[in-house]
This record gives sequence, structure tokens and C-alpha cells, in this order.
Amino acid sequence: MSALNPGFLQALKEALALYPTPFYAYDWTRVREGVERLKRAFPKARLFYALKANPRLGLLRRLRALGLGAEAVSLGEVLRAYRAGFLPEEVLWNGPVKTEEALKALQASPPLVVLDSEGDLLRVARLLPGAKVLLRVNPDLPVATHPHLATGRGESQFGVLPEEVPRLLALARERGLRVLGLHLHLGSKLEDPRDFLEGYRVLEGLFPEVGPVEVLDLGGGFGLGLDLKALREAMEALARLYGAEVFLEPGRYLVAQAGVLVARVVGWKRTRRNYLLLEAGMTTLLRPALYGAFHPVLPLYEGEGEEVYDLAGPACEAGDVLARGVALPPPKEGDALAFLEAGAYGASMALSYLDTPRPLELLWTGEGFEVLRRREPLEALWEGEA
Ligand SMILES: Cc1ncc(COP(=O)(O)O)c(C=O)c1O
Repeated sequence: MSALNPGFLQALKEALALYPTPFYAYDWTRVREGVERLKRAFPKARLFYALKANPRLGLLRRLRALGLGAEAVSLGEVLRAYRAGFLPEEVLWNGPVKTEEALKALQASPPLVVLDSEGDLLRVARLLPGAKVLLRVNPDLPVATHPHLATGRGESQFGVLPEEVPRLLALARERGLRVLGLHLHLGSKLEDPRDFLEGYRVLEGLFPEVGPVEVLDLGGGFGLGLDLKALREAMEALARLYGAEVFLEPGRYLVAQAGVLVARVVGWKRTRRNYLLLEAGMTTLLRPALYGAFHPVLPLYEGEGEEVYDLAGPACEAGDVLARGVALPPPKEGDALAFLEAGAYGASMALSYLDTPRPLELLWTGEGFEVLRRREPLEALWEGEA
């Protein structure tokens, strides 16, 4: 279990008396350490934080101040990055779907664009003439992660297969796009360095046909336990081969362990299993229901002995269980639990399903909490409806 910074843990307990639950809270000192670790591991790479992991403006401004760029996958995320102060050349726009509406909205200030298919290329060339682009390579590699997170397999919808790369680079140039280089993102939560090394080998194999480029974007996906040192040499050799600068797109690695979801116990229930009923469930933290993600649980109360519980949320779905088989001291009503490693894809995936307000988000700066986002007001749930 990843231990929380003692100061953060103490502040969390104090926050229970000050803020409405459930809430997400993030330890900024931990995020900053993650940035420093990545910079030390890859001193020559430029880092673009993947907003989707947690896109709060207060976090983005701080990351920009540390010299990071932003990686976005929707018009909303690109505009959010601009709103946080990132300049167009500091924002990378990824994803298989870039609609005409989105492309037109960005004509005045186009970000760097990652082309994902021939159709995408032609649309970008037509609506963002002269844009600076990368071409995303689908390396057709299996990787050791959940199938939903393995984006570099040949059957996934991302990127173009290696054999298509030379023709599409030529087409992009012919259509007036400014080709910066190639892009590779293998998937998320990758813990085995060999997955990355195989991906780099695919790009190495393309060099004779592609030739030198300005940029190799090698994506994100760094698992929390990944040995970064094992990648450095191969990454730098690849960059030297192409004469390129390396871009990386870390998301989860920077924020996952920095964040917790805090939720209170509402009640108990025995069926064939022993349940604790919580005020928050899958609408607030979707990852366990979506892809079986595991979040360690830390009680924020004192208690005697231990019982084993399943932790269920309020939704009327049997899948709304945040964790099963968790040994905890029996809580009282209103006692709080912290779900750890919830800083990435937690709040950003929170749903208003079942008219659940999206929760409060707090940032612990080392000195105190700042509100990153207030709890969504109930009225906002029906705003805009006739
Ligand atoms: C293109 C791209 N880059 C970066 C990321 C960030 O991945 P992670 O949070 O696993 O680092 C993702 C995640 O979906 C992605 O699709």
C-alpha cells in the first residue's frame, strides 16, 4: 500500500470537520516529486501532462509552472489547457476523433496535432492548414495491462499501422502540414519495461523509410511500479537515431498516488456477504466498476478488532462495489474511509449518473488545503433542461 505523507494524512482527518464528503484530495508535494522523478529519469525529454488523468485548472497551472506542456484529447481539454495558461505550442491534441466543429473552433490558435488516421489527416489539412503535426503509429503490440487500456494492439482503433506510415507522412507533407515526427502510445498502467522497449523497436524499424524527424512522442502509460531507468538508454538511442527531441505524455504516473477519495460510512447490511454502505460509489469513482481497478482502503477512524467487508455505493447496480474483502475495524455511522491511489482517472471520470453531484476536490499544498473545484451544486444537475 502506498503510504500517505503524514502531514497530508493529518490534514485529511482535519478536513473531515471542514468540508462536505465525499471529496477527493490531492497531495501537491507528491505530484511535484513525481515530476522531479520523471525529469531525473528522462532529463532530455519534454513532458506533456495528460489532462485526462486530472484536469483541474489549479493543478494544470502548477504543472505548467514546473515546465510541463499539456496533452489533450478533446476540444474541451484543449480549451481547458489554454484556460490554464498553456500556449498553443505547449498543447498536444490526440485522439481518433477530431470533428469539424472542434477543428474550426481551434483555427485561430491551433495546438500541435497528433494525426490518427488518413481521414483525420485530410480533415486536419483542410481545416487547420499548415498545422504542426505528428503521426501516431499503431505498433501492433500486445502489452501486459487490462485489455481496455492496451491501445497499441493492431486491432485497437488508434494510430496507423507501421506499413502505412511512410505513405501517410508523404501525404501529410503534400497537403501542406508541417510534419514534426512520430507518436507512439502503447497503453496505460504498463509495469514491464519490455513493453516499451518493443514499442521503441518498432519505431527503430521505421527509420530507414522515415528518416530524421524533429520529434518522437513516446506517449505515457508509465505504471507506478515501472523501472524508469530500464527505458532511458533505449529511449535516448532512438532519439539519437532520428536526431529527434523526445516528448512524453505522463498522466497516471504523476497524480495517481497523490490522490485519495474520502467517503463516509452510511450503514451496514448482511446478505450472503457483509456490506458497508458508503455515500460514494461508482458514480464518484468509476475505475473499479469500469475495469476492475483496485484501490487500497485506509480507515480514517480508530477502532478495535477487524471484520471483512465489501464496500458498496448507492447505485442500483450490483457492480457498484468500490472494493471487496477489505479487513477494517468495525466503523460507526459517519466514520470515513480513504480510497488510495485515486488521483488519476478518479474525479475526471466522475459521472452525474443518478443525479449525483460531482464531488469537491481539494489540493493540499503542504501548508493547507485549496479548493480546486467545489462540489457541483444540485441545481447544476438540471441546468439547461427545458
Ligand atoms: C495518447 C495518450 N497519451 C497519454 C496518456 C496517459 O496515459 P497514462 O495516464 O497511463 O500515463 C493516454 C491515456 O489514455 C493516452 O491515450
